[in-house]
Formats: sequence, C-alpha cells, structure tokens
Amino acid sequence: MIKVGIVGASGYTGLELIKMLITHNGFTLSYLATTQGGIDVEALHPSMQDIISLPVEKADATVVAERCELVFLALPHKASMGFAKALLDKGVKVVDLSADYRLEIDTYEENYCPHEDKEHINESVYALIEYYREALKTTNLAAGPGCYPTATLLGILPLVPYLDANAPLFVDAKSGLSGAGKNLSENAHYVNMNENIFAYKALSHRHEPEIAEKIEKVHGVKLNVNFVPHLIPVTRGELVSVYGTLKEDVNPLAILKEHYKDDPFIRIRENPVDIKSTAGTHFCDIYAIKKGNALFVSSAIDNILRGASSQALAAANLMCGYNEGMGLPVIPYMP
Ligand SMILES: NC(=O)c1ccc[n+]([C@@H]2O[C@H](COP(=O)([O-])OP(=O)(O)OC[C@H]3O[C@@H](n4cnc5c(N)ncnc54)[C@H](OP(=O)(O)O)[C@@H]3O)[C@@H](O)[C@H]2O)c1
Repeated sequence: MIKVGIVGASGYTGLELIKMLITHNGFTLSYLATTQGGIDVEALHPSMQDIISLPVEKADATVVAERCELVFLALPHKASMGFAKALLDKGVKVVDLSADYRLEIDTYEENYCPHEDKEHINESVYALIEYYREALKTTNLAAGPGCYPTATLLGILPLVPYLDANAPLFVDAKSGLSGAGKNLSENAHYVNMNENIFAYKALSHRHEPEIAEKIEKVHGVKLNVNFVPHLIPVTRGELVSVYGTLKEDVNPLAILKEHYKDDPFIRIRENPVDIKSTAGTHFCDIYAIKKGNALFVSSAIDNILRGASSQALAAANLMCGYNEGMGLPVIPYMP
C-alpha cells in the first residue's frame, strides 16, 4: 500500500478525495491537512462519522514528506505551488488540483499571478487522462485540468481536425455551485441562486485560455475559443455545449465513438446528455450532432469528480503503476 495525503481536506474536492481513498486498494490515507488543523476528520466532515477517524493537521510540507509518498493538493491556486515545490524537492509525488501547473508559464502569469515555481512547471503533465495517460505513468507532478476544460476538451478534441479553424468556437457551459468551492460569495447566496441561472465572466473566464492552449497542444491549431460559463442551482454537475463550424461532411457521433472506443470512462450517447447521469461518477458523457456545417457537441461531467478529484485519483493511479480505474466511482446518483 502506498501512503498518501491530502492538503486541503476541508474543501469540496478534499472531501471527495477522502471518500474515494478510504476504500482504495492501493493507497492508505495517512495525512490530512487544512490551514489551521487541530480537528478530527469526523468533526470537520460530520458525514464521515464512524467511517474514518484521522486527525486533520496544520499543513506542513516537512511532515507530509515524512508520512506520504504521494500528496493531493486540493488547494486554491498560488497556495498550491509553495507546497508542490517543497514536496517535489523532497521526492514526494504531487497531484495538484489547482491551476498552478496546468498552463504554459506565460499563459499562467497573464491569467493568474507571478509563478513561484518555474523549476517544476515545465515538468508537469496535464492530467486529462485520455490524452496524457502515457506521460502520467512517468511523472512526479500531475496538474489537474480545470473542470470546464475537462468537459469541453473531452467533447471537442476528437472533432478539432474537422473544424473550420477560421470560424469561432463557442463554448456555453453550465455548472453547479460546488464548482466555486466552499467559500461564500454574493452569487452563492440561496436567494440569488435558487430558481435562477446566469452567465458570469462571459468571454473573460480563466478557463478560456486553458481550453485554447490545450487544443493547440494536441492538434497544433489555434482556434478562436469563446467561452461563457453559467451558474445553475444544483450542487454538482457540469453541462457543456460547444458550437463549431465543420469544414467537411463527417458524422461527429461516429468519430467520437471510434476515438473513445477503448476508453472505459467516456460514454458516447445517442441522445443529448444530462448532468445527473454522471453525478457521483468519473464518467464523461458526450453527444454530438450536425446540421449542414453547424456542429453541436454536448458533454456532461460531475465537476468535483471527473472535473477534479476522481480525475486526480486516476492520475495518481497511473503515476503509481496501478490500473487507471482503481477506486474510481461509477454508479451515478440517479434518480
Ligand atoms: N470545486 C470544483 O468543482 C473544482 C473543480 C476543478 C478544480 N478545482 C480546484 O481544486 C482546488 C480546490 O477546490 P475546492 O473546490 O475543494 O476548494 P475549497 O472548497 O475552497 O477548499 C479549499 C481548501 O484549501 C485549504 N487551504 C486554502 N489555503 C490553504 C493554505 N495556504 N494551506 C493549507 N490549506 C489551505 C482550505 O482549508 P481551510 O478550510 O483551512 O481554509 C480548504 O480545505 C482549487 O484550486 C479549485 O480551483 C475545483
């Protein structure tokens, strides 16, 4: 058994990691931490009472390195890079869920903040599993993709070679509120969110350059990506609708089926997808249709699992020589 830890154990993605790691056959959860610590996990997450008992400590990279061979950083961007740098220098494998190691340094600094770990950013592997599986097997640093980019890229990447690169690509995304983390904001108040839906950061969200950068990395083509996210009044789930222009007469559903035929966690659907069928799972469901040269691709994921924690666990499995699917949830919360 490989000893693993979670820094950021009080957050939404931290809790999902705890739940999966409790029953994992190759990992032992040996360390949990938050900014302050000093609490047991049962008190921190009352839903975990009588399921797991472990102290939650004040995060300390030296202690983590003594106790763990691999650490999940379920932290906000900027906080992650300090821990990652210290842990990697001590030989600990890192799976970072934040944006800190996802992007080229220029893209990162344009959209986030100055980077404080230039040494390791070039060593990271983008943990979009279906595209970076082989590279993940040999890296010590996996960078979890953003939740919106995960759903968007899994849907559109197989179809990029058939797109008219001169036409804009529109990405219309809708997310449950857990995507924003546990801290309250004006948008997150019940009266603002209940029975409501609205766009935010239209054409200016940080996930737009991430989507564009990864399309260019995989296919060598620069697309004009236009991304508009929306908040919807559900706890978890993300639905992404992509609108593009085809340059040739192809069957998009057949392309998706062929592309993902060996990928057990991608389900190509015959009808438009929904978020509830993937909630609680690592699945990404995808559907596509065209009319003339107009293309519609629709994908759904659970933002805290496939968009964050289960994708991080899949990366950790690969980094440690385990089967990619070990311990990943597959039973949806339906109904
Ligand atoms: N939520 C999603 O659907 C989703 C999807 C994809 C990626 N992500 C990314 O995953 C990361 C975690 O997201 P989340 O939703 O779990 O966030 P969250 O609910 O806000 O939790 C953040 C966690 O980080 C801890 N923390 C913050 N600063 C820290 C520091 N300096 N040292 C130690 N611990 C610190 C917090 O501990 P305290 O309780 O002590 O403050 C908390 O446990 C973020 O980078 C987010 O962008 C999230």
